[in-house]
Amino acid sequence: MKLKTNIKRIGILTGGGDCPGLNAVIRGVTKPAHDLGMEVFGIEDGFEGFVQGKARQLYNKDVSGILTTGGTILGSSNKGDPFHWPEEIDGTIKICDRSKNALKYYQGWNLDALIAIGGDGTMHICDKLSKMGMNIVGVPKTIDNDLEATDQTFGHDSAVYVVSEAIDRLHTTGSSHHRVMIVEVMGRYAGWIALNGGLAGGADIILLPEFPFSWECIYNKVVQRNMQGKRFSIICVAEGAKPKDGEMVVKATDIKRTDPIQLGGIGELIGKKISDNTGLETRVTVLGHLQRGGSPTPYDRILSTKFGTFAIDLASKGKFGRMVALKGNEVTSVKIEDAISKQKLVSSSTQAVISAKAVGVSFGTTEL
Ligand code: F6P
Repeated sequence: MKLKTNIKRIGILTGGGDCPGLNAVIRGVTKPAHDLGMEVFGIEDGFEGFVQGKARQLYNKDVSGILTTGGTILGSSNKGDPFHWPEEIDGTIKICDRSKNALKYYQGWNLDALIAIGGDGTMHICDKLSKMGMNIVGVPKTIDNDLEATDQTFGHDSAVYVVSEAIDRLHTTGSSHHRVMIVEVMGRYAGWIALNGGLAGGADIILLPEFPFSWECIYNKVVQRNMQGKRFSIICVAEGAKPKDGEMVVKATDIKRTDPIQLGGIGELIGKKISDNTGLETRVTVLGHLQRGGSPTPYDRILSTKFGTFAIDLASKGKFGRMVALKGNEVTSVKIEDAISKQKLVSSSTQAVISAKAVGVSFGTTEL
């Protein structure tokens, strides 16, 4: 077949934590790439597999039927940063630079370009690999939705759907038993999942990392609701939320991870403090990886397909060092180095915060 582009062979990988929509992007890249006469090389297990030289060729049959499936057919890892590679030397873990291994495989596989699908950590790695000479196009994924350069990452909508469905279920059991129901959600240092999931589910209190909360404010809100005859409350708390006078709750640390900190446990702390200080009965649900698993929502399937096809279009035109982005309703691209300069966080002027306050949601602080 006559090539319709100078790019003959591309690599594709999925880095960091998985999320619904990764397979839809892989499909969105691979099918048009074949139509353009390119070969597609799937790198396995993210950057970890890249450094170790794990890859296989992807054919159309490999991406058939994967639009609707969660996870990633390529595997992923949040431990394989080539520039921060954990290696056991004499019984201790030492952090080494293995980026030259990745470059060696990139050249050895004769790749003309790499499509890297990932979040903040992946884009930082992509920026450094671009500067070493690799031709890279980034595609932004993360349930956290915390990349400033894009209005939305795929995966977020699916996570929000899980949260809102969970809150609906907690609502009925919480109101039957007159309890304070606390649901802890993911999001790392950004509150988008808690904010959007809490708003969609009708939570009474939403607690975010961006707005440190006061214990008194939370106690007052649940007691006041009780006195008004609303004998249950729903609290949607982000894993990174923290009290004004305290720190985020860290569940574990692991230096092998790109971000060594694993958050978790703030929900339990809030449940205990509320029952100790108000006498109300509390129950805590931690949604955890339910938010990352399963089939993508229709919104995420569409966004992922748009992102994948746009990425291969950029690559076929030789537009490298760029990350696909959504701006309003338009899919466009930004320089990777600009994409990583700032994290997108919730602020007091975020429309969802303004609307939540207008319908009586408390953010656990009087300072908003
Ligand atoms: O970044 C996505 C995310 O799901 C965060 O919301 C969460 O803090 C983290 O990854 C959990 O990572 P792991 O799967 O390594 O526990």
